[in-house]
Amino acid sequence: MTAQTVAIDGPAASGKSIVGATVAARLGYRFFDTGAMYRALTWHALRRGIDPHDESALARLAASADVDVHEGRAGASESTCVIIDGADATAHLRDTDVEANVSLVSRVPGVRAALVRIQRALADHGRVVMAGRDIGSVVLPDADLKVYLDASREVRARRRADQLRAANIEPDYDSLMRDLARRDGIDSTRAASPLTAAAGAVIINTDNMTVEQVVERIIEEAT
Ligand code: DC
Repeated sequence: MTAQTVAIDGPAASGKSIVGATVAARLGYRFFDTGAMYRALTWHALRRGIDPHDESALARLAASADVDVHEGRAGASESTCVIIDGADATAHLRDTDVEANVSLVSRVPGVRAALVRIQRALADHGRVVMAGRDIGSVVLPDADLKVYLDASREVRARRRADQLRAANIEPDYDSLMRDLARRDGIDSTRAASPLTAAAGAVIINTDNMTVEQVVERIIEEAT
């Protein structure tokens, strides 16, 4: 029996999004990248002038925000679109100030509780692939298949650099490495739902694998 819910976790730039979206397309399932939700909330908070260190203001904002999540069109730059309190955050998910502050916002327990509730509702009817940091461990602990994608920081920085070059932006490899180190540190040491491979997760080190090979491996596990 094919897995109805697939959880994909892993560090920043481990390929969760492209792999997850491709696996979902192959299975005819919906795909949600939960990082987009933390990014959208960060954008919303910054726009409202909320200090990203102000945990209670962030938790209040998350608890009251109307967060509408849907899949992006095929081929669109974002696989997951987020409308928050009526404002479309999708075009702003990679803004520099969002990138710089999302780790702070996503470590707040009240923020996580609000977004996890929405994520569980998205997966309620199954036939879904969901990517993030805590999907197999917290959001969907009963997922039929849990995958943890790993890759060395050097390989992840190189992949990010290739993406930037494809978008005609000259990458600064050293600053990419520094940024990944900083985000890895915050994501894996925070008290609330730190990044970790869930019990029972299939761990795939993608350092020497193409996207197609990773997708194939997950499809094998799922079917
Ligand atoms: O996967 P990403 O780079 O778009 O994630 C952005 C941030 O959100 C990152 O700092 C980790 C956080 N995140 C999280 O804490 N839990 C998730 N399920 C998804 C993302």
